[in-house]
Amino acid sequence: MKTLHEYIKEAEKKKVAIGHFNISNLEALHAIYNAAKKLNVPVIIGLSEGEESFVDREEAVALIHAIRERDNYPIFLNADHHHSFETVKKCIDSGFDTVIFDGTELSFEENIKISKECVDYAHKINKETGRDILVEGELGFIGSGSIIRDEIPEGAGVKTTPENAEKFVKMTGIDLFAPSVGSIHGLIRHGKPHTDPELIAQIKKVTGIPLVLHGGSGLTDEDFTNAIKAGISMIHINTEIRVAYVEALKKSLIDNPEEVVPYKILQPAVEAIEKIVEARLKLFNNLE
Ligand code: G3H
Ligand code: ZN
Repeated sequence: MKTLHEYIKEAEKKKVAIGHFNISNLEALHAIYNAAKKLNVPVIIGLSEGEESFVDREEAVALIHAIRERDNYPIFLNADHHHSFETVKKCIDSGFDTVIFDGTELSFEENIKISKECVDYAHKINKETGRDILVEGELGFIGSGSIIRDEIPEGAGVKTTPENAEKFVKMTGIDLFAPSVGSIHGLIRHGKPHTDPELIAQIKKVTGIPLVLHGGSGLTDEDFTNAIKAGISMIHINTEIRVAYVEALKKSLIDNPEEVVPYKILQPAVEAIEKIVEARLKLFNNLE
């Protein structure tokens, strides 16, 4: 099987994007995997620090590896938005395929310093073991937390400049880059953020490495297709599937007040996630 690195390079060439979806439980993993498998496309499962503390780091690695080996299927695990070298290192040591150091709240210099530390460590492990761990760096305001908000948070207008992007990528040696290009984490009740394809194209040109789009929830199909055409090779979605899960679960409990079998109660929630992931993967992989 190809490595994640090779799948990303292939996506770059084909002008499609690999879907990245976060999970908080086993149902979501099954739903995402079912959707990807149906379409026969590679998929990445993400665990933020919060999700990871709930799911368990080592158990998540064991699950993803078990599925990948059993079905010989390209499913990969990402340590999403980790905020210290120590937690990034733990994920690398546990067997994650890719890690994100999120230093967006630090100064430019400090963000570079710790991102580079993560890159040096991952690449050293790659050399020693033959693994192909990828490190993603982040620059600019993408917001935090995959939740529903009333308004676009303050500071969301601050996008990554091509000059800073070029400097950041050069000085850190990161494999993947997440710039701030208009989208933000979460769903917004009033007002919609949009991606900026011109800026994406400029950043792609000066950095020359695969670009990752965060904050996919709430974006339009057009936002996605324009972003992919401009140079995005991976897209993160979380809030939309969290909302679908919770709504389906609430309805299932209300509709079946006497039901006590968890896998029966949870089935509609699995289907709700699967439906969204399938639609997004079709769009990202240009399958319609
Ligand atoms: O890393 C996670 C994603 O960027 C999630 O963004 O919650 O807006 O879909 P989203
Ligand atoms: Zn994100």
